[in-house]
Amino acid sequence: MTSRGKILILDDEPNILVSLSRALELEDYTVITAKNLAEARVALEKSGPDLALFDVKLPDGDGLELMEALKKAGDLLPIIVMSGHGSIDDAVRAIQLGAVDYLEKPIGQDRLLLTIANTLELSRLKTENEALREEAREALGESEILGRSKAIGELKEQIDRVAKSEGRVLITGENGTGKELIAHAIHAASLRSAKPFVSLNCAAVPAELIESELFGHEKGAFTGAVGRKIGKFERAHQGTLFLDEVGDMPANMQAKLLRVLQTGELERVGGNDTIKVDVRVLAATNKDLEEEIREGRFREDLYYRLNVVPLVSPALRDRKEDIPLLAESFLVEAARRNHCRAPKLGPRALALLAAHDYPGNVRELRNLMERIVILAPPNAEVLDEGDIRHLVPHRGGGGGGAKAGAYRADAKLSDLVLEAERAIVLEALEAHDNVVADTARALGVERSNFHKKLKALGLR
Ligand SMILES: Nc1ncnc2c1ncn2[C@@H]1O[C@H](COP(=O)(O)OP(=O)(O)OP(=O)(O)O)[C@@H](O)[C@H]1O
Ligand SMILES: [Mg+2]
Repeated sequence: MTSRGKILILDDEPNILVSLSRALELEDYTVITAKNLAEARVALEKSGPDLALFDVKLPDGDGLELMEALKKAGDLLPIIVMSGHGSIDDAVRAIQLGAVDYLEKPIGQDRLLLTIANTLELSRLKTENEALREEAREALGESEILGRSKAIGELKEQIDRVAKSEGRVLITGENGTGKELIAHAIHAASLRSAKPFVSLNCAAVPAELIESELFGHEKGAFTGAVGRKIGKFERAHQGTLFLDEVGDMPANMQAKLLRVLQTGELERVGGNDTIKVDVRVLAATNKDLEEEIREGRFREDLYYRLNVVPLVSPALRDRKEDIPLLAESFLVEAARRNHCRAPKLGPRALALLAAHDYPGNVRELRNLMERIVILAPPNAEVLDEGDIRHLVPHRGGGGGGAKAGAYRADAKLSDLVLEAERAIVLEALEAHDNVVADTARALGVERSNFHKKLKALGLR
């Protein structure tokens, strides 16, 4: 049986404790009772209730004072105050000190149940709201997936198809290829899009904290657990949980994660209650998980649970025809961020950008555009190769730079040939006023092949 919530009743009259307990238990609440402040303190510490009912006059002190102390310590526990010596003053004081409501004895059962249900719903909404805010913060500055290459077209198609399903997706690809962007896109296009998208970067959280990040903890579960913490799984309820860098998850956590994926159930650290969650899990990694499995660093059973649908995020060097579009869009974005006008990229500047092989992928290109906006000659309407040559990595920084395609120790033959080819094509285009048909004829290349060549070289 699942409980609707844990309620602490603090009252010194045994009759009241018994009758309220019975009424609440009939409604599927879990009840803890305390007949004085000392017992209440122990119960608060030990069992972390979701809500409390406080009487005012108690043998060892004043319920309102305990409430005040809790509120001052930053405790978010919702407290309903009940009193038999109903005076307006008491009621006003209770609300001022932070009670969510004030009920006069004898307590009407219907009124009590309604107040409790409303209060618990309100705290649930507060938690959900916090998760949504976090999601909004995370989404800020995040953009749509750009690119017209075949690889990106296929990727977007796969995202659409998989998004509507409930299937778990494992996204693999190099650094900076947009794995996180893909996870966001899947959630946004899914039936869960109105619910939270919560993410955890498994590589960024110390191993000993991952469990409490994912599953939450109860107050006092370990040194430093000063309050109850709701974990990412619970916050992602009915939504999506994105496990980034899942290949970096420590072995003991892999076992615990596997269990949640199999049963849909978890326990908070230091808690006894089993909590059911409905969460779709997306995961990403830049590691080769099959290699990790062979090396004994990643559980094979977990791999199959996560990898229901594999998605591969393509490296930028394998879709160079996307570079002009991405570069221009990042340039506009960077210019806006830096309060200046975005320059255009001339054909030779674009060719230079396309010649680099971007080990850092789209992120590297994005950062490069930021650098260009800040450091390229101001007031230039169109940037030429020479304006940005010193800003692009491995390109004869500082000085005039080598001739495109000439031998350099740091470049492969295939790249040098590509560079030389690009330079030749550009020169030919210039010589024919950028008329493609004439240029193709002059170079003795069939026209449709020449169009393909232009695309492959990142020239439109
Ligand atoms: N196709 C794309 N269109 C637009 N922006 C993109 C695209 N791919 C990546 N980006 C941008 O590049 C940056 C890196 O993307 P993201 O963080 O999703 O990469 P990642 O694969 O998760 O990288 P890492 O493995 O380093 O975590 C982000 O700013 C993202 O918005
Ligand atoms: Mg990432």
